[in-house]
Amino acid sequence: MYNLLKGKRGIITGALDQNSIAWKVAEKAHEEGAEFVLTNAPIAMRMGEINALAEKTGSKIIPADATSVEDLTNLYTQSQEILGGKIDFVLHSIGMSVNIRKKIPYMESNYDYFMKGIDVSALSFHKMLAVAKKLDAISEGGSVVALTYMAAQRTYPFYTDMADIKAMLESIARSFGYHYGLEKKVRINTVSQSPTKTTAGSGVKGFGDFFDFANSVAPLGNADAESCADYCITLFSDLTRMVTMQNLFHDGGYSSTGVSDDVMKRLGIESES
Ligand SMILES: NC(=O)c1ccc[n+]([C@@H]2O[C@H](COP(=O)([O-])OP(=O)(O)OC[C@H]3O[C@@H](n4cnc5c(N)ncnc54)[C@H](O)[C@@H]3O)[C@@H](O)[C@H]2O)c1
Repeated sequence: MYNLLKGKRGIITGALDQNSIAWKVAEKAHEEGAEFVLTNAPIAMRMGEINALAEKTGSKIIPADATSVEDLTNLYTQSQEILGGKIDFVLHSIGMSVNIRKKIPYMESNYDYFMKGIDVSALSFHKMLAVAKKLDAISEGGSVVALTYMAAQRTYPFYTDMADIKAMLESIARSFGYHYGLEKKVRINTVSQSPTKTTAGSGVKGFGDFFDFANSVAPLGNADAESCADYCITLFSDLTRMVTMQNLFHDGGYSSTGVSDDVMKRLGIESES
């Protein structure tokens, strides 16, 4: 361990179970010396698994629906009381699309579900930042990271409305990153992660096949949740203090690869090299 987050205070959203990317981030942040509060939607608390993570990392849990400004206000206020000062890092690891859950094709999207998806998965990020700014809850040079997926840049038909929602999330990182950076030197980035076997990930139609495809394309293979957590830790640390308003690909090289030898082989096409 490198003590990269020693003395830092954080808020980590989205740890549902051991597979969650946020779960791994919490474990790594603890190893790196951070103190933090865990939060999730009250309904997710019912599964109770988060208690084990809280115990393991010596953290308190504050339930908050990330679409509720009231809940978020309480989250930041209580977190600062519990941790004894302003917050140095925040992880937004929240995603949900009812259209995906109900397997509704993109062109037939239900707009109530679409709006719900926008509120939970993108506007919640704006709300988390706006509440923090209003309360002046994040310390100078603090770091905020949200998780996203490359369907914001390129079409993946089965990702349906989440593609548009992730594009909005990434835009919020840039827009808010400008204002918050200028006023308080708070930096805001998104990490664009490989397909990862979690509850949210596995809910996407054809996820297993796509997971294998991405793994065949990426020269390093798919990045797993643990390596994603490592990357988030670097972004919370002072080592990346000048990085902001970026969408950072964490995908084993997938996003820069047109085609791989492995995919050609699978298609029965011989490569001459
Ligand atoms: N799994 C993948 O393949 C993959 C790839 C790229 C990006 N991501 C992104 O990573 C993030 C974390 O997802 P994950 O894959 O770890 O899955 P996950 O299902 O473990 O986490 C999603 C979390 O969002 C929380 N959530 C949903 N509605 C909420 C609300 N109203 N308020 C507060 N929390 C709420 C859930 O309770 C859950 O903890 C998401 O933004 C997801 O889109 C995932």
